[in-house]
Amino acid sequence: MSPADKNKPKHILLIIGGGIAAYKASELIRLIKKAGMTVRCVLTESGAQFVTPMTLAALSENEVHTTLWSLKDETEMGHIQLSREADLVVVCPATANLLAKMVAGIADDLATTLLLATDTQVLAAPAMNVRMWDHPATRRNIDQLRRDGVSVMSPDQGDMACGEYGPGRLPEPPEILEEIRNHLDGANTKKPISASMSKPGTSPLDGQPAFAPDQHRPLHGKHILVTAGPTHEPIDPVRYIANRSSGRQGFAIAGAAAEAGAKVTLVAGPVSLPTPAGVMRIDVETALEMGTAVHDALPADAAIMVAAVADWRADTRADQKIKKQDDGVPAPLNLTENPDILAGLASHEQRPGLLIGFAAETQKIEEHARAKLAKKGCDWIIANDVSGDVMGGTENTVHIVTTDGTEIWERLPKPEVARRLVAKIIEEI
Ligand code: CTP
Repeated sequence: MSPADKNKPKHILLIIGGGIAAYKASELIRLIKKAGMTVRCVLTESGAQFVTPMTLAALSENEVHTTLWSLKDETEMGHIQLSREADLVVVCPATANLLAKMVAGIADDLATTLLLATDTQVLAAPAMNVRMWDHPATRRNIDQLRRDGVSVMSPDQGDMACGEYGPGRLPEPPEILEEIRNHLDGANTKKPISASMSKPGTSPLDGQPAFAPDQHRPLHGKHILVTAGPTHEPIDPVRYIANRSSGRQGFAIAGAAAEAGAKVTLVAGPVSLPTPAGVMRIDVETALEMGTAVHDALPADAAIMVAAVADWRADTRADQKIKKQDDGVPAPLNLTENPDILAGLASHEQRPGLLIGFAAETQKIEEHARAKLAKKGCDWIIANDVSGDVMGGTENTVHIVTTDGTEIWERLPKPEVARRLVAKIIEEI
């Protein structure tokens, strides 16, 4: 997002589903407007049983759209355009029925058609009866939506309109506004289309949501900085120095931290992974660019440096492709050491309160990790045993090395390592 785009007023498309919590959409509209954004409402047929288009039009100061079959709307705007001109699509309240239709790709009214047609990030604020929320069908649907890149807020817990108690209440409108702001705050609000195109098993959050959906957002208000992936160090316009890092572990950690409510900045080296929901991603290529992006992202409450930063770069980058010599002598390749981003953060005046490094080791894992902990000045080192197929793979055995001791997590899927690590971070910050 360019700085000019950042200052433009943001447009929210608000889809209001049919539940008793629909009345709270009115308050949300008021807050969105007060925050200087514009809002256009789409009301489902059942939503209109709870709030009237007149109320929403008066509050939003915009026309309210209710039907797919409005000739006037089609000639003036068109439902595809309606779904795409927004900076963020917010579904509030997102009923069990609406969520299920989103998962299945059903488009049988204006709201669901827009949700299927949009290329914009979607934020859903669910509200439903506690048994509906706990039902295995809803659990599956929420997991699938999150894997599809939809941000699904966790509902609040408490007394419900139906007289029962438990999770299922719509989060309070100020909390939803905060979540909207988090998404718009430079976050990539275009839907991570690649998520739907990635091969099964390649999503960093594959299998499970990054964080148990019913848990409270314990990292709310915290800023977590994550680096991930390799760096590429160019030699000439077509060649570069690289390593086998896939970025999966770092992306899963960024996703898990966002699920836990943190504002997350992910500085990513060159990888082709979808951006986890709710994460602000900054793409970089080289170690020097990564260092700059990390410093620009400060202050942070915690930094987790998962990136496999190239230790060296070519000391000069040839402007033209280096040609083979006739005498068969290889072209000289002189290397310069890259700055250590993690060590730099440790001595930075804005050092994050919790600084975590990763270490890829093939032998004497704990011994090397402990040496790195001291050398780099960080609080924890998460040491990967990369003697097998860890780099680029989907599982990891990790040693958590701190000044207090060492914990070992035997061979776990990377999203599970991410979840456990975020749970440990929650205890610490
Ligand atoms: N790291 C960094 N900047 C560098 C090199 C490494 O920030 N220039 C960070 C990594 O992101 C990781 C940690 O330092 O969190 C350890 O990385 P690793 O490559 O294992 O350590 P090195 O210092 O490169 O040590 P070695 O390769 O000799 O084992």
